[in-house]
Amino acid sequence: MFLVSGPELVIAACKAGIGGAFPTPNCRTPSELDSWMGQITDALSPDDGPWVANMITHSSNNRLAEDLALVAEYKPPIVITALGSPKPVIETVKAYGGLVFADVVNINLARKAAAAGVDGMACISAGAGGHTGHLSPLSFISAVREFFDGYIAVGGGIADGSAIAGAIAAGADMVYMGTRFLAASESRAQDDYKAMIVDCGPDDLVVSSAITGTPASWLKPSLNAADLDPDNLGGPVTRDYSGDGAHKRWKDIWAAGQGLQSIQAVEPVATIVDRLEDEYRLAVSRFQRITAGEEHMDRYVAATLAKANSQ
Ligand SMILES: Cc1cc2nc3c(=O)[nH]c(=O)nc-3n(C[C@H](O)[C@H](O)[C@H](O)COP(=O)(O)O)c2cc1C
Repeated sequence: MFLVSGPELVIAACKAGIGGAFPTPNCRTPSELDSWMGQITDALSPDDGPWVANMITHSSNNRLAEDLALVAEYKPPIVITALGSPKPVIETVKAYGGLVFADVVNINLARKAAAAGVDGMACISAGAGGHTGHLSPLSFISAVREFFDGYIAVGGGIADGSAIAGAIAAGADMVYMGTRFLAASESRAQDDYKAMIVDCGPDDLVVSSAITGTPASWLKPSLNAADLDPDNLGGPVTRDYSGDGAHKRWKDIWAAGQGLQSIQAVEPVATIVDRLEDEYRLAVSRFQRITAGEEHMDRYVAATLAKANSQ
């Protein structure tokens, strides 16, 4: 996540057994990126989860070639492309055996990514933090599955283990989560931002193209604090995802997705991941009970008893 994910968050995520990602523009210069990639690769062992570099492939990213040279050197197991075609990175990443995922927000982009030969897609659905999609994750997954047999990661509003189980049941291979880790102890979000994440719920968000030129989900209290009216943000601005302008916008105006409701405290990544796992297992066992007919039976018995008692 822009200005939020640094080596601390990535390493903590991978050590907790999930993948840890950061966007390369979080580093102001290629030499800082060199240092981050060095820190991450030094800290991780083959038993840890995969680390992931997110690269903006939009034409406004004038550092793509330099960042890509560092990707070739440090070999992140997965590279996710966003806000542009995955084509510019595919040859480099596949040459060292890495996987390329394309971040997509609609079926048209998903078809283009499939044609480009990606290994996976991150289907960003409605409710995502930062640049968001608008499709239901359920219809998105089934539509993409019709023409794509690679990995499907789905993101958007997924913030607890039962939502992960739901995404897998719906046909995804994995999920892509941002908001759930905004208030992690290891996140670089400012303390006031973390406090706002803990305090706010989904009704405190507004989706608008007025800040970056692309629909993104923003925390209304942060817009108010920046003297902007969340109800009158105006039309899209010219797209610009890099440079000082982008750093300033995201530093002062804070993004989040609809998964906010699950976040009750600032906690270490390991604690969050443990809880996600517990919730996931609970959801899976409930699903198994339902498919075995047990839970329906419990409910039927309870309803029958309640009826009998009331007579
Ligand atoms: C504050 C914030 C910053 C983000 N910055 C980026 C980014 O720089 N590059 C990117 O590919 N995705 C970015 N994302 C989107 C995430 O990669 C992911 O698609 C999204 O968080 C998933 O939805 P969720 O927030 O509901 O979990 C950002 C998300 C948030 C919340």
